[in-house]
Amino acid sequence: MIELSVPLFASSLDLFRLPSAVQHYSILYESQRKADGQPRIRIIVSVQTDTGQTFIIKIIKETEHPAELINRQSEFSETLRANGFPVPKRHPLPDQRYGKVLAIHGIECAVTVEDQEGQRELPCINPRYVRELAVLMANMHKISARHNCRLDHGTIWDLFNPRSDISRGGNRFLDLPVKDGFNKIDVLLYERIKQLYILKRNELKRVWPQLPSYAVQGDFSTNNVMLNKDGSIRAVIDFNIAGDEKLVNDLVTEGIFICFIMDLEPGLPEDCRHDLLRLFVRTYREQRPLANEEESVLNLLYQLVFPFLWTNIELLEEKLEAENPQAANRHLHNMLRELEEPFFFKNIAC
Ligand SMILES: Nc1ncnc2c1ncn2[C@@H]1O[C@H](COP(=O)(O)OP(=O)(O)O)[C@@H](O)[C@H]1O
Ligand SMILES: [Mg+2]
Repeated sequence: MIELSVPLFASSLDLFRLPSAVQHYSILYESQRKADGQPRIRIIVSVQTDTGQTFIIKIIKETEHPAELINRQSEFSETLRANGFPVPKRHPLPDQRYGKVLAIHGIECAVTVEDQEGQRELPCINPRYVRELAVLMANMHKISARHNCRLDHGTIWDLFNPRSDISRGGNRFLDLPVKDGFNKIDVLLYERIKQLYILKRNELKRVWPQLPSYAVQGDFSTNNVMLNKDGSIRAVIDFNIAGDEKLVNDLVTEGIFICFIMDLEPGLPEDCRHDLLRLFVRTYREQRPLANEEESVLNLLYQLVFPFLWTNIELLEEKLEAENPQAANRHLHNMLRELEEPFFFKNIAC
């Protein structure tokens, strides 16, 4: 266990040659446990110094986040900042790197320091925020492409990595035949959807190598967007899962994530989420027009991601478990409709 204390944070700031007279700290996130017999640590603290500055110190020990990757993610974040994209400043060490491997109580952790930008996370989405997030994403993509930013690391949205988060739903859909209750549903309908899924994946796979791919922040969740007091967006934070992604996949898949999974502003009807996604993509395209190949896969991406989102497949599994084949078949019919109908229309106010 790492004991959190003023001297620990003061010495961390000192390493980064920052004012180190700590007046106050608050723990924003702490998880210290064992995984596969190894310590697994994620500590995020906000530290205020006597100069009135507030820094975010992150102490991380996670096998999937080696210090080298954290350093590249920080360099990417700094490239964005240097080009006017609102991200917190990352403080470099005297050797110009952004992460220091420190043995704290004998545990080797990566330590980074950045400025605190705001205290309030975006609470929910509405049309205004969806538009602002689309502009931010388009600007991030433009900067990343212009500066040829790459992280040599994938994102959780990689449709062709069977272990990525986004592949979870599709994998579970393909595994449905082993579930109890499967034989009670319309098996031919299931097979038709499965064939279409495979066909469309192959279609996308053929175009995949031609799609521009660069570093992206990879997680525009509402809790990674900090607000000013007046409610305007102040900064995008958290480059923890930044990686290289096909830009158009980042657009559609993260767009789906933002518009369908994030909380909606109270009072907005659930069924406006589809229109929010169209607004997101339309606003993005106004900022960064898509290349022809990118344009050509917009609908394929939607069709391969939305119906197979893990949250949607969970709903289908629940209907199977509840032995409610009628509800499961209705769900399958909706999936088939999504797979057969285009979602985005070119040049139409979609
Ligand atoms: N630079 C920052 N400025 C303001 N708040 C921050 C900053 N970094 C982290 N936070 C706060 O801490 C929370 C967790 O940090 P984050 O970097 O998003 O880590 P995680 O990977 O655990 O999501 C954020 O949701 C935000 O509230
Ligand atoms: Mg976060």
